[in-house]
Amino acid sequence: MNGTFQMPPEASTLAHQVDSLYYFIFWGAVFFFVLIVGLSLIFVLKYRRRPGQVMTPRASHNTPLEVTWTVIPLALVILVFVWGFKGYMALAVSPAGALEYHVTAKQWLWQVEGPDGETSVNEMTVPVNQAVKVILRSEDVIHSFYVPAFRVKQDAIPNRYTTLWFQATRTGDFDLFCTEYCGTGHSGMLGKIHVLSAEDFEKHKEATAGPAAGMSLADYGAQLYKQKACITCHSLDGTRKTGPSFKGVFGHQVHLADGTTITADENYVRQSILDPKSQVVNGFEPVMPTFQGLLKPNQIDALIEFIKAQK
Ligand code: CUA
Repeated sequence: MNGTFQMPPEASTLAHQVDSLYYFIFWGAVFFFVLIVGLSLIFVLKYRRRPGQVMTPRASHNTPLEVTWTVIPLALVILVFVWGFKGYMALAVSPAGALEYHVTAKQWLWQVEGPDGETSVNEMTVPVNQAVKVILRSEDVIHSFYVPAFRVKQDAIPNRYTTLWFQATRTGDFDLFCTEYCGTGHSGMLGKIHVLSAEDFEKHKEATAGPAAGMSLADYGAQLYKQKACITCHSLDGTRKTGPSFKGVFGHQVHLADGTTITADENYVRQSILDPKSQVVNGFEPVMPTFQGLLKPNQIDALIEFIKAQK
C-alpha cells in the first residue's frame, strides 16, 4: 500500500497491473543501460590504442551472437506488447453494472453528475469496492481526467464522449488532476475523489438529496457554498480571491466592469449565478462559469439567503 519514489500508493483494482508492467520496463531499461554502457566503457579502456600495438583484425560476422541479440529483444518487446495490451483492454472496457457518473470538464472545473442525478463541482463521491464508470465530455477545449492513485487517465474532448472506469480498493480522498494544458486556470483545475464505505456512501446520498429536515435556507446555502465549490473563489471574510468576497455585498452598491452601478439584491445574485459574464464586478476577470443546470431553484434561493447573511 505504500507508494514508491515514482508512484503514489495504489488504490484501485488495476493499479497493481499498471505498476508491474511499468517497473518491468523501467528495470529492464536500467539493466540494459548498465550492461551496454558498462561494457562500452570496459572495451574502450581495454582495447584503446597503445604504442607498439598492432590493430586487431576487423570482425565481420557472428551468426549465433546476432541471432541472440535479435531474439532476446524481440521476445521482450512481444512480452511488453501482450502485457500492455491486456492491461489496456482491462482499463478500457468497463464491467457491466458499474455505477455511472457523468463528468463535464470546462475551463476550469469539473462538473460531476452522480448516478442519482446529484451534482457537485470538483468533488466526486464514490463507494469503495464497486466499479465506477466515468463518462466524460468537455464544453470547450481538451482536458484530461487523471487520478494517479487509481492509475487512470482519459482525455475529455468537445463533441464526443470518452469513458474510463475504476474500482477503488480503499476509502479516503484521492487527487483528481487535469493533465492536459487547457488555459490559464489549468494548474488550478483540481478535484477530489472521495471514496466512502458502502455505509457512508448511503449516508452521503441522503445528505446530498436536499436540505436536512428543519434546516434553514441560509444553513442549506452554507452547505451548498462548500458543496458547489463557491468557496474556491469567494471568501466570507472580505479576502479578495478569484472572485469578490461575499462579505457585505447584499443590499449594497456594486460597481460593474462596464461602468454601471447596481444594487446587490436577489435578482443580482441569481443572475450572477446563472449568467456570470453579464455583470462582472469591476476589477475582476470574467472567469466564472455558469451554474445553470447545476443548481435547483431552491438551491439558488438558499445561496441568496446565505449571501444575505454575510453582513
Ligand atoms: Cu483542464 Cu487542464
